[in-house]
Amino acid sequence: MPSILVTRNVGPAAMAKLEASGFDLIVNPVDAEPTRAWVLENIANPDVISVCLMHGQGSDKVDEEFLNACNPNLKTVSTFSVGFDHIDVKGANARGIKIGHTPGVLSDSVADITTMLVLMTMRRVQEGIDLIKSGGPTAPLLTPCARSIPLANALQWPKLPWAPFVMCGPNIGHPNLTIGFLGFGRISEVVVDRLLAFTSKTAPPTILYNSSRARDNQAQLDADFSKRWGTTVRRAEVDEVAEKSDVVIVLCSLNPSTTDLVNAAFLKKMKKSAILVNAARGPIVNSEDLNAALDAGEIYGAGLDVITGEPHVAPDHPLVLNSRCVVIPHMGSADMDTRAAMGDLCVSNAIAGAKGEALVAEVKV
Ligand code: GLV
Ligand code: GLV
Repeated sequence: MPSILVTRNVGPAAMAKLEASGFDLIVNPVDAEPTRAWVLENIANPDVISVCLMHGQGSDKVDEEFLNACNPNLKTVSTFSVGFDHIDVKGANARGIKIGHTPGVLSDSVADITTMLVLMTMRRVQEGIDLIKSGGPTAPLLTPCARSIPLANALQWPKLPWAPFVMCGPNIGHPNLTIGFLGFGRISEVVVDRLLAFTSKTAPPTILYNSSRARDNQAQLDADFSKRWGTTVRRAEVDEVAEKSDVVIVLCSLNPSTTDLVNAAFLKKMKKSAILVNAARGPIVNSEDLNAALDAGEIYGAGLDVITGEPHVAPDHPLVLNSRCVVIPHMGSADMDTRAAMGDLCVSNAIAGAKGEALVAEVKV
C-alpha cells in the first residue's frame, strides 16, 4: 500500500489532512526527533513514496547516504521549512525525487522577527536585559558609539543614575540611513515594508541589496522597487553593502558561495556604528569573527536568530554571553498560525507528490 512517511507530527490540522489523503501513514511514534537509523530504515521501505521531513534536527539530511538508502519508488521529500541547505536537491532530482518546501507562508513571521532584532540591537535591549537581571554592571557596559556618550562603569541597577544619554543606541528614524540586505527574496521584501514604518519619512533610507547575480532587467527591477517603496533601492556588490550600510540584514540562502560571507574582512568594512542581523542560516556569518568585531568595537551590535552549530549552542557561547549581541534560538517562523500554515503546505506537497501531481511549492535549483 503506498505510504507517506512522517518523521514528526506536523500539527493536528495537517495530520488530519494526511489522514484524509487515502495514503497509509508511517508516523514516527514518538513526538521527538527520530533517529537517523529510523529515517534510513523507513525510506528503504518500498511502500514509502513520499516523506514529510521535519527540518532542523540532524536526522534530516537528504545527502548521499539518504539518497542511497531510499527505495526506488520514492517520489517526493517535503521539508517543513523554506530553507533547503540540508538537502542535495540536484542529487535528489537526478534520482527522480522532487523536493517540496514552505515558501511564502512564513515570510511575514520571519520578517517580524528580523525587524524585532533590528530594533532590539539598535536600542541595546540585550544590554538592558542583562543589566536588570544582573542587578548591576560588573564590567564596562557602555558600547563605544559615535552617537552615545560613554559613561564608563557609571550604570547601576536598581540605582541607575539616569543621564540623558544612558543606554542610548542609534535611531532607526535617523535621516538618510542606508539599509543593506544580503539576499533579497520574499522575506527581505516584507522586511523593507516593515522597516519603512519606522524610518524617516522626510529623509528615507537608501536600500542596497546584494543578490547572487545581477538580472538582465536589473535597472528596470531597481526602478520598480524604488517606485514601490518611494526611495532609492538598488542592487550592490557585497563590499558596498558592507561599507555603506547602517543596518546589514542577512536573508540569503546558505550555499558554498554564502558560507562565511560575513567574515572578518566584511566586518572590518562595516561602519563602527552599524549593526548586523542574521535571520537566515548561521554559517553565513563567521561566529568567531563576529565576536571579535563586537569586542573590538568594529561594529555596534548584532542580532542573531541563527548561529553556527545550532541547536548545540552552549549557554557560555561567546556570542550568547556578549551583551552587544542578541541571540535567539532560530524562531523566525515560530508563531502558531505560521507553523500551522507550514504544516499544511508541507503535507500538501507530500500528498501531491504521492499522487504524481505537481507540488504546490517545489524547490527549483
Ligand atoms: C527556517 O529557517 C526555514 O527554513 O523554514
Ligand atoms: C530568501 O532570501 C527569502 O527572502 O525568501
